[in-house]
Amino acid sequence: MSVNRYDFLVIGSGAAGLLAARKLAAAGRVAVLTKRTPDVSNSDLAQGGIAAVTSRDDDFSLHIADTLRTGAGLCDRRIVELTITEAPARIEELVELGTRFSRKGGAFELGLEGGHSRRRVLHAADATGHEIERALLEACRSDRNITFFPFHSAVDLILRSRPAGTRPGGNACLGAYALEEATGKVHSFLAGTTVLASGGAGKVYRYTSNPDVTTGDGMAMAYRAGLPLANMEFVQFHPTCLYHPQAKSFLISEALRGEGGVLRDAAGRAFMKDYSKHLELAPRDIVARAIDSELKRTGADCVYLDMTHLKAAFLKRRFPMIFAKCLSLGIDMTKAPIPVVPAAHFFCGGVTTDEYGRTAMPGLYAVGEAAYTGLHGANRLASNSLLEACVFAHRAAEAVKGDYIARRAPARPAHWTTGNARPSDEAVVIKHNWDEIRTLMWNYVGIVRSDKRLARAAARMELISAEIVKYYWDFLPTRDLLELRNIACLADVIIASARSRRESRGLHYTVDYPEASPRLARPTVVDRYRR
Ligand code: SIN
Repeated sequence: MSVNRYDFLVIGSGAAGLLAARKLAAAGRVAVLTKRTPDVSNSDLAQGGIAAVTSRDDDFSLHIADTLRTGAGLCDRRIVELTITEAPARIEELVELGTRFSRKGGAFELGLEGGHSRRRVLHAADATGHEIERALLEACRSDRNITFFPFHSAVDLILRSRPAGTRPGGNACLGAYALEEATGKVHSFLAGTTVLASGGAGKVYRYTSNPDVTTGDGMAMAYRAGLPLANMEFVQFHPTCLYHPQAKSFLISEALRGEGGVLRDAAGRAFMKDYSKHLELAPRDIVARAIDSELKRTGADCVYLDMTHLKAAFLKRRFPMIFAKCLSLGIDMTKAPIPVVPAAHFFCGGVTTDEYGRTAMPGLYAVGEAAYTGLHGANRLASNSLLEACVFAHRAAEAVKGDYIARRAPARPAHWTTGNARPSDEAVVIKHNWDEIRTLMWNYVGIVRSDKRLARAAARMELISAEIVKYYWDFLPTRDLLELRNIACLADVIIASARSRRESRGLHYTVDYPEASPRLARPTVVDRYRR
């Protein structure tokens, strides 16, 4: 077990983490913890793009209005305004760092997605996240002040003091413990400031567009450390993930619907006209619920996204990655509709932060999907997430550099001890609970909820959580065990958030309270000290 001292610790290597690391490296030494290799992240898989006002026929006020409307009354207007007005500067910075967005005659080629009143989505064909990650990784790898620690899983935050019930403001974050996969050892990473950039938690659900690493580790660690999580009931289900036995978590970008894709049932009927006047370009919650309702009504396994009326040459140029992936599975999207289903995609809630990514705990920041800034409200506008990652990574880095705690030498924290823990005797417990949580969350806490389903989920989670806590303290940690503990923690918080919202709003839809209630137009906060 080693003790590693850095000025800054960044947990996660998606767009928010890499951009924060790159900026912080100007002020000191940065350690970046990442669970696999640094290029494995949810950001890397983002297809559609990054929304920003860059064209003459667009305007900040339109992007702001689209974000607020999609957020269904729960966005923080101040945060929306600052994010959208700062977007062009962040785009310029990405371009300077080497990101190659698709262009048409010199200008950015802009895509359209659901909920946007203008074409404003910058993209790099259909692999935008990958292109941004490539540029950021190149910049970070060439910076001597940044050290990557791949195959290191954060276990818990290191706190200055921890008397029972210590409130976050009365404590301070000194870094994090991390499990090194190759040795099974838990090391201490001490830093003046820790930045949680660990992404969302799609793996809480059985079907997700997210990669395997997306187990909400930062949100769960913050929650265990006493920080509140906000708006965790607002889980965005992407309407169109590829439905194929050999395709795990493969997204069929909303940009396809932006270019004219039509959703059809198995009989070929275009059904979106039954659900919204905006048809396929209604906000995602409406499209996902429409598909869910069609699947339940017809008993079919999937619906179809039809692109066959568009020119083959255009489809191959605009969506080369999606075209190639589908073709590799025997689906030629220029000739046949693509089978699709909804899947968990994005968390609008997370660790509550201010407009600089500061949490309530000195020394701890959160950026990207791990954070709740107030931008997305009850539903995220498409392609506003990479934007949030860039805007808040920048703001957090600027604030950290001026922050008092960044210049303080960390105190001597407690070393990690394993007590009487021994190697796991029955790994099947982890697999069983992993499958059970994800299935129950999909069936009971999914696109359409009810009081009865949520109560069932809560009862099951109580038993599973007790078993996991016992297992965690009895056996030496492994990555699988840490991830299971984190998805269990977040499942519990999502259920508590969903049960407390007795209305339907944005992504939270319950058959027992089908309307929004003006009285409940405020964020949900779940705090382990107040439950
Ligand atoms: C997509 O390409 O459909 C995903 C974009 C997003 O989640 O904003």
